[in-house]
Amino acid sequence: MNRRASVLREMGLAPVWRLRDAPGATVDSPPAESATSAAVAGDLEPVAAVAAAPASEPAVLPARTAVLPTAPPLVAPARVATEDMDWAALEAAIGACRACPLHERRTMAVPGVGDRAADWLFVGEGPGAEEDLRGEPFVGQAGKLLDAMLAAIGLARGRNVYIANAVKCRPPGNRTPEASEMAACQPYLERQIALLQPRIIVALGRPAAQTLLGGEVKINAARGRLFDRAGIPVVVTYHPAYLLRNPQDKAKAWEDLCFARAALAPR
Ligand code: URA
Repeated sequence: MNRRASVLREMGLAPVWRLRDAPGATVDSPPAESATSAAVAGDLEPVAAVAAAPASEPAVLPARTAVLPTAPPLVAPARVATEDMDWAALEAAIGACRACPLHERRTMAVPGVGDRAADWLFVGEGPGAEEDLRGEPFVGQAGKLLDAMLAAIGLARGRNVYIANAVKCRPPGNRTPEASEMAACQPYLERQIALLQPRIIVALGRPAAQTLLGGEVKINAARGRLFDRAGIPVVVTYHPAYLLRNPQDKAKAWEDLCFARAALAPR
């Protein structure tokens, strides 16, 4: 079994796709890019994992929908001015931030990690216990799954990928960040996006989607739609921690990542 197939197996997804009218073709065979285009065009059909999805979930990827989400933040915070910051100033500001109560219990702030010239930006919710200790996002169990998800579409942490969170300090007990906390942290994420200028942003879970798109977002309704954030496409998928609890939805996350890959904006 090649590396790609073993990665998909690790995600709980193997075997997943085969080309229509090409019996025997599996994830082992087509090059990544052509597999994606085919998936979007509906030329791939799912086998085991996807076939198990409920009939109400179409296996082919839904048509793109352009939505203008530039709604204001959920609440109006006292805004940290990040507009002129370079990476070093931004990370220093995050490390010293006291804009919301989350700073009181953090060990370390967790600014983000990865390739600062990346095409891909993945945005999670907020650091957990391990991330709080190490200062790096997604280093726990959910991070291992995220790494497998990246590998499944030919990506790797630190190589053409940047990973950040909606909030940079750990919410106590890993609770969901409050809207006011996400709003307070939003200038940091906005500056990260401005510095990176990624070709695609993947929102991992609801809090990330809400901070990126503004207002209420329901994951199941937002999946398969292409949002626009000031010219940068945004795709919404499940958070890896959710997928650890609900492995039956991993196949849908795989669809979402293929959809995102097909939606990369031109440079
Ligand atoms: N979950 C997240 O959303 N972010 C992390 O960094 C770790 C777990």
